[in-house]
Amino acid sequence: MQIIQCEKCGKRYKVNNDSGKTSAKYKCSACDHVIAVDFVNADVGSPTPSARAPEPDPGPVRKPAPSYDAHNDQAAMTSDAMEKALSLRTKFNIAIGAVFLCAIVLIYFLSGSRLQKDAEQQVFDKARLLLTTMEASRSFTSKVIKPALYKELPGRFVTEGMSSSFGARNIFERIHKTYPQYYFKHAAPYPRNLINQADDFEMGIIEQFNNNPDMKEWQGYRVKGDQQEYSIMKPIVAKDRCMRCHGDPAKAPKELLDRYGNENGFHRSVGEVIGTLTVSVPSSIVIDKARKNTWVFIGMVVLFFFVLTLIVNVFFAKVVLQPIQKLADNANEISLGKLDTQINTSGGDEIAMLAKAFNRMKISIKMAFEQLSR
Ligand code: HEC
Repeated sequence: MQIIQCEKCGKRYKVNNDSGKTSAKYKCSACDHVIAVDFVNADVGSPTPSARAPEPDPGPVRKPAPSYDAHNDQAAMTSDAMEKALSLRTKFNIAIGAVFLCAIVLIYFLSGSRLQKDAEQQVFDKARLLLTTMEASRSFTSKVIKPALYKELPGRFVTEGMSSSFGARNIFERIHKTYPQYYFKHAAPYPRNLINQADDFEMGIIEQFNNNPDMKEWQGYRVKGDQQEYSIMKPIVAKDRCMRCHGDPAKAPKELLDRYGNENGFHRSVGEVIGTLTVSVPSSIVIDKARKNTWVFIGMVVLFFFVLTLIVNVFFAKVVLQPIQKLADNANEISLGKLDTQINTSGGDEIAMLAKAFNRMKISIKMAFEQLSR
């Protein structure tokens, strides 16, 4: 077994000449330099004699000078340290990557669910606002316009001003022109105006209201076509005063019969749920948008981490890796005998302290050699 050393970077290797060759070539794993080995003359890729440490005089009373192997050890150590220093960048990036992954997962779950909840709340609020608007319109017709018209036109029936259902429906038709995705209906199983006919879904809820008189409201999601909507439904219960127009057609105002006929919307009974106030607002659009916003947010965080990693890497290379590399090169040169190597000791950080320690060591070695050679 022989020990060889790379002339370029100083890394040391153990080689076996099992095949009995006179020479061989090896590639340095640290710097890719090709090391030629002459097994016969044992010139094994070591530094040229001029680059070696000065040989001390072999005087009997003097202590032996450090052997060449000791230099090799130093060079090998320096090289190892260099490898470790270089891998610091990888370690550092792995740490940043781990933080980054945790951040993405946290953002996805925390901010994603937050945005989703906000979007849902927006949908609930819109539906509630629409319902309140329609209830207010009904209430205004029945409590303000209708009594005033009755007073002015006793015994007469003016549909436009005296039917709160008619008023609310017409007001919503105007709202619908601006908000075509919003929906309002006096959904009824046996409507007077067929435009108010309840669909299958609404019929199911009306049945629930009829079976549970304590149920004051239904709210939830329903799918219409490829869209999901959030809907609120409130029961409209027939009272005694409603019977004038919804009970026996014989007692109904003439104007109403002329306009709607004597079949639809009659023969209802007090306490019966004769329809529902139904509102729906689109929900899938809003919730999909929240989902998209979560990804936009994550995209921004990815960009931020990318720029941060880039800056940290440049900074790290300049402040830590390059000075360590330089110091390793200096130490390597010293180990090969170049005791005049200049070490940059400027600065006050830990690396500068290390450089100063190296410098002191270099001076001590130099002095030791001078003493020995005297
Ligand atoms: C003076 C007559 C009159 C009275 C009283 C009246 N309604 Fe009506 N109602 C109508 C008319 C007219 C319509 C049709 C409106 C339209 O064209 O949308 C209607 C429609 C409705 C509808 C919508 C479904 C449908 O049949 O087209 C509901 C629900 C309704 N009324 C409930 C009531 C309730 C509850 C009361 C009592 C609190 C009441 N109405 C009292 C005249 C009346």
